[in-house]
Amino acid sequence: MGEAKELEGRIAVVTGSARGIGEQTVRKLSAAGAKVVVSDLDGDLAQSVADSLHGDAAVHSGNLTAGGVCEQLVEAAVEAFGGIDILVNNAGYAWDAPLHKITDEQWEAMIAIHTTVPFRMLRAASPYLREPAKADQAAGREVFRKVVTVTSLSGVMGNAGQVAYAAAKGGSVGLTKALAKEWGPLKINVNAIAFGAIETRLTAAIGTVGEIDLGDDRKLPIGIPEQARSAFHNFIPLGRPATAEEAARGVYYLCSPGSDYVHGQVLGVSGGLALGMTS
Ligand SMILES: NC(=O)c1ccc[n+]([C@@H]2O[C@H](COP(=O)([O-])OP(=O)(O)OC[C@H]3O[C@@H](n4cnc5c(N)ncnc54)[C@H](O)[C@@H]3O)[C@@H](O)[C@H]2O)c1
Repeated sequence: MGEAKELEGRIAVVTGSARGIGEQTVRKLSAAGAKVVVSDLDGDLAQSVADSLHGDAAVHSGNLTAGGVCEQLVEAAVEAFGGIDILVNNAGYAWDAPLHKITDEQWEAMIAIHTTVPFRMLRAASPYLREPAKADQAAGREVFRKVVTVTSLSGVMGNAGQVAYAAAKGGSVGLTKALAKEWGPLKINVNAIAFGAIETRLTAAIGTVGEIDLGDDRKLPIGIPEQARSAFHNFIPLGRPATAEEAARGVYYLCSPGSDYVHGQVLGVSGGLALGMTS
């Protein structure tokens, strides 16, 4: 028999895992032995990711910003595998404009996906994370559970043109830090990861990767202007953006035993890129 894998039998939910950083994250978690729930707006793509994995995988499809959908996802995970040990709040998109042009709809959409969805996921998952943690504690076992929320350099340092996205991603940092204080005594690690430029459709040249279909008659163009892309890349000390797989290594670290004593942190995974305003 081979050596047990690092995350053998752990149950992981990753939102927005049909493509990009989320997809690479479920691949890593699954390869390490976790049972994964692949969840996305794009159900067909989520299914094909799940089908391509060797380990146990379940699929959930839906728009997490719609009422009750976060709760459904949590229940689907519990129904499929009996609990949740690792929750990765990754689903997201950008809907950018300078402040004077941001509509209420745009502002609310960014807060909904980047702040409210992580909050609702955590609230819905809380009994499944906290109760077994209390039982482990009562039995004298130290078992670490994991929450990772994907934020952005934009949310910790600001980025012109992204006031709504930055506010919403910054909200998820406050959520992470406060919850780390609440759940630390239960050995539930709560951390965030702040990406700089990662090569996914979010950062592709606008017009080349289609639209995001929110399933409610709203379709938004994806990507950023080519000029902004190249200007941004010149400031990355490591000289290039990361692949989604490289980004997922950071998420994996925060889901793995290697980070058991890392708590309440925002891990920067940006090739050294810093947008300047740090406090
Ligand atoms: N790519 C970057 O450079 C970068 C930088 C900083 C932060 N991020 C963040 O990383 C996360 C992943 O982004 P990515 O670059 O992999 O993008 P991506 O578009 O490749 O993947 C995001 C996934 O989330 C899903 N999703 C979006 N809204 C959803 C909703 N309402 N309900 C369910 N699923 C939804 C999408 O369908 C998509 O499959 C996002 O939170 C993004 O804001 C990305």
